[in-house]
Amino acid sequence: MSSESEQPGTTAGGLRSAAWFGPGLAPILHRAAIRSIGMSYSPGRPMVGVCSPWSEFVNCNYHFRALAEAVKRGITRAGGLAFEFSTMSLGENLMKPTAMLYRNLMAMEVEETIRSYPMDAVVLLVGCDKTVPAQLMGAASANVPAIAVTGGPSARGCFQGKDVSTATDLWGYADEYRAGRLSEAEMAELEGQLIPSVGHCNEMGTASTMAAITEALGMSLPGTAGILATHAGRYAAAEASGERAVELARHGLQPADILTEHAFENAAAVLMALGGSTNAVIHLIALAGRLGVPFSLTDLDRVARRVPVIANVKPTGRYLFEDLQRAGGIPAVMRELGGLVHADQMTVTGRSWGAESAGSPAPDGDVLRSLDAPIAAGGAMRVVRGTLAPAGAVIKISAASPDLLSHRGPAVVFDGIRDLVDRIDDPSLDVAPESVLVLRQAGPVGAPGMPEWGHLPIPRKLLKQGVRDLVRVSDARMSGTSYGTVVLHVAPESAVGGPLAVLRDGDDVVLDAEAGQLDIAISPEDLSRRRQEHQRDFEITATRGYVGLYRRSVLQADRGCDFDFLARGDDPLDAGPPLGLNNSWAGGW
Ligand code: FES
Repeated sequence: MSSESEQPGTTAGGLRSAAWFGPGLAPILHRAAIRSIGMSYSPGRPMVGVCSPWSEFVNCNYHFRALAEAVKRGITRAGGLAFEFSTMSLGENLMKPTAMLYRNLMAMEVEETIRSYPMDAVVLLVGCDKTVPAQLMGAASANVPAIAVTGGPSARGCFQGKDVSTATDLWGYADEYRAGRLSEAEMAELEGQLIPSVGHCNEMGTASTMAAITEALGMSLPGTAGILATHAGRYAAAEASGERAVELARHGLQPADILTEHAFENAAAVLMALGGSTNAVIHLIALAGRLGVPFSLTDLDRVARRVPVIANVKPTGRYLFEDLQRAGGIPAVMRELGGLVHADQMTVTGRSWGAESAGSPAPDGDVLRSLDAPIAAGGAMRVVRGTLAPAGAVIKISAASPDLLSHRGPAVVFDGIRDLVDRIDDPSLDVAPESVLVLRQAGPVGAPGMPEWGHLPIPRKLLKQGVRDLVRVSDARMSGTSYGTVVLHVAPESAVGGPLAVLRDGDDVVLDAEAGQLDIAISPEDLSRRRQEHQRDFEITATRGYVGLYRRSVLQADRGCDFDFLARGDDPLDAGPPLGLNNSWAGGW
């Protein structure tokens, strides 16, 4: 017997699940279905989903089975019925070409699973980078009461007597290896120390940043983001979140009630205070787009210019997320930010951030700095625009070389990752310390999926001269664990006709991060002429399956790389260049 035609929707008032289990024939089968797994339906008892992207391919989420059990204990203790379900799992380390290609797919899966099953609330287990925004985006669109449980950072490793983070330190050691200063045996020893436990990357990479932002948005329990994955407190937080999910179901508190414009401003302030990942910029804009909340690159830049970096955590600083947790975690950051955040903004607890952070410790002056003695007074990021990036690009100034933030130099252009790999270490490459390395065909459509290729390696011949940073520009992203003077997310990307497409070797690129400018130093006439010469067809060639859907539907980076058919509202985001047929850029430059 099929009850497909009688599939219920959300009920007005009361528990949503009641619509599945009311009078009639279909509910008999619905009750029988859950009785078969040992559950018995009881009116008024919330049914709470536990959304788990557990996978043995994703080391960061490997503890999620145990974490889900803790959540389920909390749900049961609070009088709910717990239903664990699995989703696809996005792992940064092993998933190719990039987990970002699949963020929207996972978001769709999460949204439709929540919507189509009798869930009164859902607990989102989030860990490795993209599993966080994917689940938040899906839950926001479904708008069923939701709470996130972040997986926690992994333990710290030790190499040559020093703490090592999961990835930030790897980049530096990799340069030393390429320069011939570290041996194979030393690299093998390092390999054994990079990820010494389950959990997400332990510096302020994308996963830690997204965990912190989830908390700042009000979508997870305050004070939990930085608890180690292996610490008993992580499981206590999971139990408490399960309990809270039952209360959310009873009170009907929905994501849209929490994820307001002020919540996004709080999240942006915390992102900047932590010197967090540039990837979070894309995810925040995409999440806001799901709710019709006006939040754009312009808003992020405004926040970035007033909030200093106060967390001394890698890659901007020197400690790990667990150290910040010991110093008071996100509530202590919120308390110190004071008037720079909206203290009256409600969290998933039903209380305001002001109430949640009131008892937090004052900055210890080392791991967490005060506003008047910050790590970086100028803030974490800048949005840059100009003739090379009409719709915007992002640079993490707190992890850049100060002397390169205002720079003019000749471009060395690479057409895609293969060209980069083939030529970057070629001794004949015409490159100098003042050069600007440029990678194109690496954006959402071009790559596709906008991989983390933006941290272009320093050419070996410059490494041997002691050069450790160059200005780099691309339409790609970079790992939140990376550092350097790296301009990312150039929009529109080259594959849809953005100006990067006509940049040539030797053209001067002019970066002024403080002024928010990124330009190509040729005359408007020359630029226009090149555009005419470059009248190639940017139409997206047909591709089958999900990748075809992605390339035809993905929005540019300044709009969060969501699918155009998933964003909600009247497009309140930045009035960027319009995207025409097949995603080609219809604007002029
Ligand atoms: Fe999963 Fe960094 S690789 S969080």
